Amino acid sequence: MTEDIKNTQKSIEPQTSPAVITRRRFLTAMTAVTGTAVAGAVVVPMVQSLEPTAAASALATTTVDLTPIEPGMQVTAMWQEKPIIVINRTPEMLATLDETMQKGLLKDPNCTVPQQPPYCKNKYRSRIPEWYVGIRICNHLCCIPHYRPKKGSVAPWWLGGFHCPCHGSMYDLSCRVIKGSPAPHNMAVPEYEIDIAKKKVVVTHMYPLAHLC
Ligand code: FES
Repeated sequence: MTEDIKNTQKSIEPQTSPAVITRRRFLTAMTAVTGTAVAGAVVVPMVQSLEPTAAASALATTTVDLTPIEPGMQVTAMWQEKPIIVINRTPEMLATLDETMQKGLLKDPNCTVPQQPPYCKNKYRSRIPEWYVGIRICNHLCCIPHYRPKKGSVAPWWLGGFHCPCHGSMYDLSCRVIKGSPAPHNMAVPEYEIDIAKKKVVVTHMYPLAHLC
């Protein structure tokens, strides 16, 4: 399987320009986001309308409304100049998390490297299995990986996850890095709170032991 992955990496061409996607450029393409300043409870209509530095200074925390995120969907919000991804994973998507482990695809399947807070040290890498919250930065050289949830969309063996256009790093749907990728670690997970009754996630802090890139 590792050889298959290597061959896949050679054959995969970036689906966009090979140039590194900068975080600023990413802002213009990201999905709708709701940000709320903590102290003033000022609603920011669209983070895209803010310069990254302004957004970072305005938002000590970022609140993401889960209401419009249907099963299988993801949205990306900005938090302190970092793209935060929130995915609503279906039962089928969750089942792939066991499959990637059983097939020996992952570098760190049990999340032994502290790339997430202790409450996310599980195969879901989340507080609630259905809801993944993480920092969407490839820890090889800081690119923004593409969301590729469909099986077979990156390679014949692909079960869904993220594919980095820069140098081909691949991650499963818990953002655990796949063997053969240049990225050394699973993608980082920040500190966050989730309230299912109120349908919201609040990203609060960087987990201090996590390596971003
Ligand atoms: S930055 Fe993602 S593979 Fe290099």
